[in-house]
Amino acid sequence: MDLPKNVSKAKAVFVSISVLMIVVFLALTIETGYSISKRHPEITPQVVAGKYVFHRKNCMDCHTLLGDGAYYAVDLTKIISFRGEGFVRTLLKNPPAVTAQLWSGKYKRLMPDLNLTSKEIDDLIAFFKWTDKVNTNGWPPGSEYYTGEVKSATTSEPKETSGEEAEEIIKKLNCGLCHSLKTKNLNLKGRIGPDLTNESLRNRTEEWLEKQLIEPHSIPDNEVAKGFKGKQKLMPSYKNRLSKDELKVLVSYLKNLKEVK
Ligand code: HEC
Ligand code: HEC
Repeated sequence: MDLPKNVSKAKAVFVSISVLMIVVFLALTIETGYSISKRHPEITPQVVAGKYVFHRKNCMDCHTLLGDGAYYAVDLTKIISFRGEGFVRTLLKNPPAVTAQLWSGKYKRLMPDLNLTSKEIDDLIAFFKWTDKVNTNGWPPGSEYYTGEVKSATTSEPKETSGEEAEEIIKKLNCGLCHSLKTKNLNLKGRIGPDLTNESLRNRTEEWLEKQLIEPHSIPDNEVAKGFKGKQKLMPSYKNRLSKDELKVLVSYLKNLKEVK
């Protein structure tokens, strides 16, 4: 039976558009297959082992990863960038002691000791270094997210002195997690790094202090404060979290820090 002319034309349009779409679909599938390996970092056997530890120990009972999981504790996707490898290692060795010092928000929350072996910790670190490299479009948002210090919506008063500005930066970046520092306005009580109250008495140069903030891991053992040899890895680099101006303000503040009596 012959189809009326307009029906066979419709059929031809249907078939040709379908073929075109199938070709486009296949081309995109193949292209994705090729480019996906370029979009995420390499998955080594240790990264996989770390992922298994993450599941076996039910980290997701409390934490999220890429936003997925439970909302009791923070998202861990970018934890290496935020805290630094050394800190995450120290925490995993003794979670209750370290988490007791962490959260400055209203409610204290502790992480239980999960009895991780040093191999499990190594594997987890490899896994987090991997998740750290995944492009998450800026998630999680920044230091307030980790520290619970939600910025107030009102615009703050202009700072009167650069000292106040430096102290705002120190609060924002939560240096008090590891350092103690007592000034008129601050009373930080961290115990992981050296006390900064009299930093000026250590006679550090501005270049040295800048290096300490940007590449703490490159400070040689014979230059660190007494009792902190080998602990350079604990301090995270603030390279990506301080603007040039903030760095200047902070360095000059540290250089002149002296206890006020
Ligand atoms: C029973 C709940 C619970 C489990 C399970 C748990 N955590 Fe935690 N974790 C916490 C709490 C509470 C904190 C501290 C508060 C916060 O960071 O939200 C914390 C903090 C952390 C931090 C530091 C976060 C920061 O702000 O610096 C890391 C890293 C971490 N946990 C890793 C892990 C890993 C890895 C596992 C699995 C091996 C795990 N946690 C399992 C409750 C838990
Ligand atoms: C996770 C822990 C940790 C955090 C957070 C941290 N530090 Fe440190 N910091 C350390 C440790 C450990 C040392 C000692 C080893 C070294 O010199 O690298 C140190 C050393 C220092 C020193 C050198 C003191 C001296 O003269 O020997 C300065 C200055 C300093 N930190 C400033 C800061 C400032 C400012 C911040 C916040 C922007 C900060 N730290 C955040 C752990 C930390």
